[in-house]
Amino acid sequence: MIRTTDATQINFREKFDLKGKVIVISGACGLIGRAFCEAVAQFGGHVVAADIALAKPAVFAEDLEKRNGVKCLGLEVEVENKDSVLKLKEAALAEFGRIDGLVTGHQNKTHLIFEPFENVSEENWDKVVEVNLKGTFLLCQVIGSYMAEQRSGSIVNIPSTYSVVAPNQNLYKGTKMGCPAAYSASKGGIDALSQYLSSYWAAKGVRVNMITPHGVWNNHEEQFEKNFSNFSPMERMSYNHEVAPALIYLLSDASSYVTGNNMLVEGGWTAW
Ligand SMILES: NC(=O)c1ccc[n+]([C@@H]2O[C@H](COP(=O)([O-])OP(=O)(O)OC[C@H]3O[C@@H](n4cnc5c(N)ncnc54)[C@H](O)[C@@H]3O)[C@@H](O)[C@H]2O)c1
Repeated sequence: MIRTTDATQINFREKFDLKGKVIVISGACGLIGRAFCEAVAQFGGHVVAADIALAKPAVFAEDLEKRNGVKCLGLEVEVENKDSVLKLKEAALAEFGRIDGLVTGHQNKTHLIFEPFENVSEENWDKVVEVNLKGTFLLCQVIGSYMAEQRSGSIVNIPSTYSVVAPNQNLYKGTKMGCPAAYSASKGGIDALSQYLSSYWAAKGVRVNMITPHGVWNNHEEQFEKNFSNFSPMERMSYNHEVAPALIYLLSDASSYVTGNNMLVEGGWTAW
């Protein structure tokens, strides 16, 4: 790090540049993952777009590469399976020879099918916790350990507003939606794991931060959008392209002294 008090020596634009950096993004083909990949590629980063086979990450990465003129790679992964995560790391290293950033943007969708807490099956609980929390643990363990050895890297994990506060049950009135406890619990685990790793790896040059998105619009049912607007200080839902700029900050040298931070991109939801 440049040791100076003279800010005129600093090119602040360059601090946000991701040129030449290799960023692994899980859940890359999802709503927020897609915006993450696009933003990283636009800032010059090489994206390793990782997702389940069904999401066709190779096709997605090919498009991304064509649009942005940076080498990208699409790889299939099941984040809850250690062998699969090890293969992801090896394939990324075989192609690029380095990994500079890890973004864990995957999630299990079981939480969208609301089950009252009293009836939650063990099977559903395990699946949500396994994909969301264990998947994040494995990605951090396999790729974060590589970064710690390399003595540099940035990890960005994605918890949820519902690991910060409880869901307001009135939000779901008149809709088919809900937020089951397993989702909140798995996301709370991601928050705690990220805090833990931020201090564990701080002296090794690996920064670990979080982005908490909230109410990202995806053609939601009208009643839900109305309810959401009533409870939101900004009186609207957000868009995936409003979440992704925070990622550029956290992955780049612009945030070189930031670790253990949870950047809330939630329109002030938890401010009142
Ligand atoms: N959308 C929101 O409003 C919101 C709010 C708060 C937090 N989040 C969090 O942000 C992240 C992204 O959300 P999103 O709305 O883009 O979700 P999404 O459902 O659109 O995308 C999730 C992606 O994860 C992939 N995935 C599922 N299981 C996987 C597995 N086993 N291995 C690897 N990949 C797997 C899916 O194929 C999908 O592409 C999630 O962690 C979510 O919990 C979202």
